[in-house]
Amino acid sequence: MFIANWKMNGSEAMLKIWLAEIKENLNQDARSSCILCPPVCFISQASKIIQRDDLGLAIGAQDVDPEIHSALTGGISGSMLKDLGSEYVIVGHSERRVNFNESSSLLKSKLEAATISGLKVIFCIGESLEEKEAGKSFEVLENQLKVYNSLTNLESIIAYEPVWAIGTGKVAEISYISEMHNFIIEKTKELNINLISLAYGGSVNSSSSKEILSLEEVNGLLIGGASLEAKEFSKIVNSIEN
Ligand code: 13P
Repeated sequence: MFIANWKMNGSEAMLKIWLAEIKENLNQDARSSCILCPPVCFISQASKIIQRDDLGLAIGAQDVDPEIHSALTGGISGSMLKDLGSEYVIVGHSERRVNFNESSSLLKSKLEAATISGLKVIFCIGESLEEKEAGKSFEVLENQLKVYNSLTNLESIIAYEPVWAIGTGKVAEISYISEMHNFIIEKTKELNINLISLAYGGSVNSSSSKEILSLEEVNGLLIGGASLEAKEFSKIVNSIEN
C-alpha cells in the first residue's frame, strides 16, 4: 500500500490539481494500492472527484475520535468518516502521540471505534531518537503494539515510522528498516494481530523508495512531505513496476 498522508496541508484548489495530476501520471494498475489521507475537511470533495473520474484511489482519514458519547464538542466519529467516503483511518501517528499525549488506552479506544464503524486501521508505531540511542527501540515497538491486547482479529496495516526520520530528510538505514520490520512481524504473530500490510514511513521520496520496497518485509510506504506533489507521489508508486 502507498499512503499519502497530507497532514495539515492542502486546500480545495490543491486537491483538484493533485487529483488531476494523479490521473495524468499514476499508472492505472497501481491505483488500487494507493490511499489518500487528506485533512478531514477535504475528504468528501476528494471522494466525489475520485468517483467521478474513476481514479480508483481509496481514502483515509488522519485520525478518529473514540466513541465516548455524542456529547464531544469538535469530535469526529468513525461513522462520520465513513459517511464522507473514508475506508481507512490512521491511528497513533507520532505527531498526535507527542503533541496531544495520546495514551495507549486512548489509542485502544480509537482502534475499537474505528473497527466498530467498519474503517480499516493504519496503526503507526516508532521510536524517538532518544529511545533509539538508549537501545530501547525494540521495547518501545513492543509496548506500542500491546495496545492490540484483547483486540484480536482486528485487521490492520501497521506503519513503522521512526520518529527521528519523520520530516527530517533522514531515511533509516536499509538494514535497520529490515531489522525493525522483521521484529514487528514476529511481535504481531505473538500478539495475534491480523497484519494485512507493514509499511515504512519517514522522509521517503522517489530517490529512496525503490531500495526500501526491495525488502520483502516492507509491503508499502507511508509518505508525508513527498506525497504533497502528485508527480513525486506517482513516481514513487510507479517505480515498483518499472
Ligand atoms: P515525511 O515523509 O514528511 O517524513 O512524513 C512521514 C510521515 O509522518 C507520514 O505519516
